Amino acid sequence: MAVNPRSLDLVHRPRRLRRSAAIRGMVRETRLSAEMLVLPLFVCSGEGQRREVSSMPGVHQLSVDEIVKEARAAKEDGVPGVLLFGLPDQKDERGDAAWDPEGPVQSAVRALKKELPDLLVITDVCLCEYTSHGHCGLLAGEEILNDESVEQLARVALSHVAAGADIVAPSDMLDGRVGRIREVLDQAGFASIAIMSYAAKYCSAFYAPFRDAADSAPAFGDRRSHQMDPANVEEALREVELDLAEGADIVMVKPAMTYLDVIARVKSEFGVPTAAYHVSGEYAMLKAAARNGWIDEPRAMMETLTAIRRAGADIIVTYYARDAARTLRSAR
Ligand code: PBG
Repeated sequence: MAVNPRSLDLVHRPRRLRRSAAIRGMVRETRLSAEMLVLPLFVCSGEGQRREVSSMPGVHQLSVDEIVKEARAAKEDGVPGVLLFGLPDQKDERGDAAWDPEGPVQSAVRALKKELPDLLVITDVCLCEYTSHGHCGLLAGEEILNDESVEQLARVALSHVAAGADIVAPSDMLDGRVGRIREVLDQAGFASIAIMSYAAKYCSAFYAPFRDAADSAPAFGDRRSHQMDPANVEEALREVELDLAEGADIVMVKPAMTYLDVIARVKSEFGVPTAAYHVSGEYAMLKAAARNGWIDEPRAMMETLTAIRRAGADIIVTYYARDAARTLRSAR
């Protein structure tokens, strides 16, 4: 059959708007900006410590002096905030080191606020890095005691804020912790400090490299009794609603890539500041594929972060924060 050489009689040709970088730039619907990025950092004790996490190339356990250097460099790249996790020297059944005013996180907060007062310092509030059993709360046998653990978490949050943290981010997924943290902070005169709650945090295989970085793998069992079932989205909306009612200022969905629909639902149904955590396993997958030469890492990174933004995230917590901020700057 002969092919008609004349052009098709098309009214709409979407390709017209893809012809040049300038046109594509003008009609681009989603823009990433460095202002929305948060870099997670792992603080350990000592001085001059910079230990790379084997499953997370480019991510290190850092002592306080090194944290200040890393945060300064991140700020210079254009990253406005960091999220701190602590590696205590000692662990016990109750995770009491988590609220030690001289602990790694509290010390890092003080150093960062002194050296880099404009840097937004967010702290992760959980017990799993501090308990000898690696669970996120206090135990009775193999059961996590919810309300007793919430008291302990509120103490931890208060110790971070007393050290100068700008925002606390409870990641434990126990019930009622946002409300109790809000109450304790308010009573102590910290009514102006915001809470970013890990509101819809799923029980995910993608946290595995983080547990190497933070030495927080549970000694037995798993986190299914408090973290969410990956199959659920309506439940995520209920979790977000509860956290907002308890006083959360920012809600987070975690992980990100496998929960883009959850991010979109949360943003569209509540319209509140929404964060997404591009977690350790998501980062490690991209790193591993890139190291094998199977993907173009800078492109895969930007495509991933753009997708998280497109889904509705206002804030993206990512180990790629510095690389992404630098890429965004050089693209200008
Ligand atoms: C709990 C916490 C975890 C992460 C952030 N906060 C681990 C967990 O729930 O087991 C995971 C972050 C990541 O994978 O990058 N303190």
